[in-house]
Amino acid sequence: MIAAYDALMARIVAESQADAILVGDSAAMVVHGFPSTLHATVEMMALHVAAVRRGAPDLMIVADMPFLSVRRGRSAAADAAGELMRSGATAVKVEGVAGHEDVIEHLVGSGIPVMGHLGLTPQSVHQLGGYRLQGREAAEAERLRREAGRLEDLGAFAFVLECVPEALAGVISAERSIPSIGIGAGSGTDGQVLVLSDLLGLDARFQPRFARRYLEGHGLVRTAIDQFVSDVRAAEFPARAEVLA
Ligand code: KIV
Repeated sequence: MIAAYDALMARIVAESQADAILVGDSAAMVVHGFPSTLHATVEMMALHVAAVRRGAPDLMIVADMPFLSVRRGRSAAADAAGELMRSGATAVKVEGVAGHEDVIEHLVGSGIPVMGHLGLTPQSVHQLGGYRLQGREAAEAERLRREAGRLEDLGAFAFVLECVPEALAGVISAERSIPSIGIGAGSGTDGQVLVLSDLLGLDARFQPRFARRYLEGHGLVRTAIDQFVSDVRAAEFPARAEVLA
């Protein structure tokens, strides 16, 4: 699974063998420049989902339920999920379980496929004290195992495990019959997800150790822009062939 937010990138992902696009609330940070995912709204997510759907008409699209959208009760959560589904999502992703089990059950019961998200849940970053590994302590690991079981019982079809120790991710994945999708969780999960801009190395300031760069995108883009500016200044762009007759 690849997190992407716009039609152009979605079209490229759709040409690949990737199974799904996640329209993550990380869009608030990556695209909109906010400091955290707390700034994502249903409206913002719906616009990105619609754009991704136009770029990838046939691919599975999972849309993040943004900050607090599952905490205002079943009816408000159903409205938010409905907006994302009508915009083109195939499924929604919900961070955490505790305190909104009824909402997950209600969405699943309403015919909306729900993906869970456990471990480092970025919408709770201030409560977690930062973007750090989760489940190191035995009690925390136990809680994560229980929550994964709860998600499966509630009818989630899969779940993301973010930033948990590899051994724990392997245990949880083996215990569950729904697929786990890891990010920063080692090699024992059933699938993997990366944010496309991390995979492409587009952000020179942000290089999480778990995210392999398949392209030095930032350097390549900078070089191209510098070359364009320099060509214009040297009156080498446009060339004759680039001038419309
Ligand atoms: O918002 C997002 O991109 C995510 C992934 C990091 C799993 O939730």
